[in-house]
Amino acid sequence: PRPAFAAAEGASPPLAAARTGTPHIAARPGGFAPLVLMPGDPRRARRIAETFLEGARQVTDVRGILGYTGTHRGEPMSVLASGMGIPSMSIYATELFRFYGVRRIARVGTAGALPASVAVRDVIVASAAHTDSGVGRLPADGVTLSLAPSYRLLRAAAQEAVREEPAGGAATHIGPVLSSDHFYLDRPALFDALERRGTLAVEMEAAGLYAVAAAEGCEALAVLTVSDHVRTGEALSAEDRETCFDRAVRIAAAALRA
Ligand code: HPA
Repeated sequence: PRPAFAAAEGASPPLAAARTGTPHIAARPGGFAPLVLMPGDPRRARRIAETFLEGARQVTDVRGILGYTGTHRGEPMSVLASGMGIPSMSIYATELFRFYGVRRIARVGTAGALPASVAVRDVIVASAAHTDSGVGRLPADGVTLSLAPSYRLLRAAAQEAVREEPAGGAATHIGPVLSSDHFYLDRPALFDALERRGTLAVEMEAAGLYAVAAAEGCEALAVLTVSDHVRTGEALSAEDRETCFDRAVRIAAAALRA
């Protein structure tokens, strides 16, 4: 038998989590639903479990990365924090897809807007993720992978966004984002070049999630709330973050169920 945590090779059969979990997740096999919402922040994971899931129970807390499983309008759904950055997101997404039978992950996070046409409180559905990380170059010499979401999830999110759009309220945008390894990225010329190419915002995880989903043959999407504006420095208050964030979670949950 293959060891539980060997690297996946080609068309190897799916591996189950060991009884004690994986290196970074303590849940038992079957502890996660096939559909998973992933915020960056563990406390936000708890809040999503409390407000969006019915009958949620905590299934893991390794390193304070909280995970819960319950149902969403009767359909089994889980939530697990990703932590910050592509490496952290990649670890949790890989273990969910590879060892827990998860089929779809929707990241629900925050992002900093680039163009003036995107405002704080708006929601961005990431139809592509550029990155300065190496995740898109790993699989093949000389090839840069296009890091993109599942079309089915993207289409469902777009449809739900139309239903969710409050009259005169925050808008929903669909387009590319930059997933950077750098939060303190003071590079106006880079921002200019990306903005000219239609990039809507900067965040730190979507590209990792999309790369892992592609590698594992699963589906992913990132739905981002604009928490701040990279150009103007405008930022949402902590209170505003919570209420604005709910719309992204509703869009992401609807996409997962599609
Ligand atoms: N940069 C990276 N990640 C972010 C930002 C940002 O400006 N805002 C929210 N997440």
